[in-house]
Amino acid sequence: MSIDQLISAVQLGDSGKPKYQAIADELAQFILSGQMAVGEKLPPQRALAHRLGVTTGTVSRAYDRLEQDGLATARVGDGTYVRALEKTQTELSTEVLATPIDLAHNVAIPTEEVQALRRTFEELSADPQALQQVLSYQAETGLRRHREAGAQWLSRFGMTGNWKRVMITHGAQHGLTCILSTLARPGDAVLTESLSYPGLQALARLMRLQLIGVEMDDEGMVPQALEQMAKTLGAKLMFCSPTLHNPTGSTMSIARRQDIAAVARRCGLLVIEDTVHATAKAAPLPALSTWLPEQSFLLSSFSKVMAPGLRMGFLEAAPVWLDKFAAFMRADCWMVSPLLPEIATRWIERGTIEKLIDLQRQLIGARLACAREILAGLDFKADPEYPLLWLPLPEPWRAGQFSAALRQAGVLVRTADHFAVGRSPAPHAIRISLNTPLSIDQLAVGLNRLKALIHSPPSASMDP
Ligand SMILES: Cc1ncc(COP(=O)(O)O)c(C=O)c1O
Repeated sequence: MSIDQLISAVQLGDSGKPKYQAIADELAQFILSGQMAVGEKLPPQRALAHRLGVTTGTVSRAYDRLEQDGLATARVGDGTYVRALEKTQTELSTEVLATPIDLAHNVAIPTEEVQALRRTFEELSADPQALQQVLSYQAETGLRRHREAGAQWLSRFGMTGNWKRVMITHGAQHGLTCILSTLARPGDAVLTESLSYPGLQALARLMRLQLIGVEMDDEGMVPQALEQMAKTLGAKLMFCSPTLHNPTGSTMSIARRQDIAAVARRCGLLVIEDTVHATAKAAPLPALSTWLPEQSFLLSSFSKVMAPGLRMGFLEAAPVWLDKFAAFMRADCWMVSPLLPEIATRWIERGTIEKLIDLQRQLIGARLACAREILAGLDFKADPEYPLLWLPLPEPWRAGQFSAALRQAGVLVRTADHFAVGRSPAPHAIRISLNTPLSIDQLAVGLNRLKALIHSPPSASMDP
């Protein structure tokens, strides 16, 4: 592409971004889609500034940006070049790969957790009685005060508020292990959404359980398909995430929850409900478990909205089940280290958790606004309080092919395959995490690379 052609091709639409950012993004698209080859010279700053009606300083900032992103290199007194004259495309990809932009993992955005923890440690260090207590043995299901805090917290999902129904776990995954180890035997069928949480899949493999994917629609698990599977296989256990399902972000309506609960009752299914992502919601819908108080197990934790290192979760179930789970806890680890629920309890009592999750929501909102702008025109699913986007890929991309090509451009995402249960065919879709990049600017770079790629047709050599 000649410099004249390029100058006339650069569009400065009304994106709402700072001008330098919009220019850098446009040029990045030309570079990443291969319309500008490695070694090609970028337009002289003054000429481009004149064409776009901006100052030379704005274009200079845009070029700095491309340099920071590793896409261009300035040569003193000469100009700026698509990086780099002396390097091959493969070498460039290898460099970009060395520090890929991570839109694959789902990690809460740091807010004020460190300050909150520091304050709690100060309070605790001045409270010898509390210190003595966290160093002592406790009941397997946890200290009453901690369970009360858990019951209070879970009432936001419409749960009973009864502490006798709540036990402490080392996070939702540990709660899941506790339930499945107690209730399932090798070979048992466990029904779940056809795309499901990989931690469940790993556990099912370890325990030699048969994990069976149930058809989904826009609201998640389809009740008729669930009933048919339960009857055909004689299954007695199911796992599902009615609110903000991972990875699709789908949420069941009240009517769907009632239908699923009715199937569970008719088929005698025990329901494991995962609310780990629902915790992000300011006003979540009532948990599915509220319709099934005697045959449900509600898992919750703060990992995805605040602090995965806290390894703290609450499990709510009828007391008769908790007695059985206590035996598992004894065999597994005696009890959860009381220091962790002590921290969580103080954070619940003082409103710290609400505040931290609210901060998280605000940051997710800002990142989602950025994503909506960059990915405008693409048909993705998003929830204003959820950091994960679900993007069915436009023709002719296949998910594996797209993620491999995107990896070459230095951006990581998860494909539907990562979540597919068994060998059921997975849709041509990817999950994009908005929260893991360290800054919103880094997220924008990743999303711009993704957008540039999605609009360029795949070549045979991109096949993984
Ligand atoms: C749906 C779902 N459930 C449970 C977990 C694990 O939660 P925890 O860290 O509390 O064990 C995750 C973490 O990725 C998840 O995505």
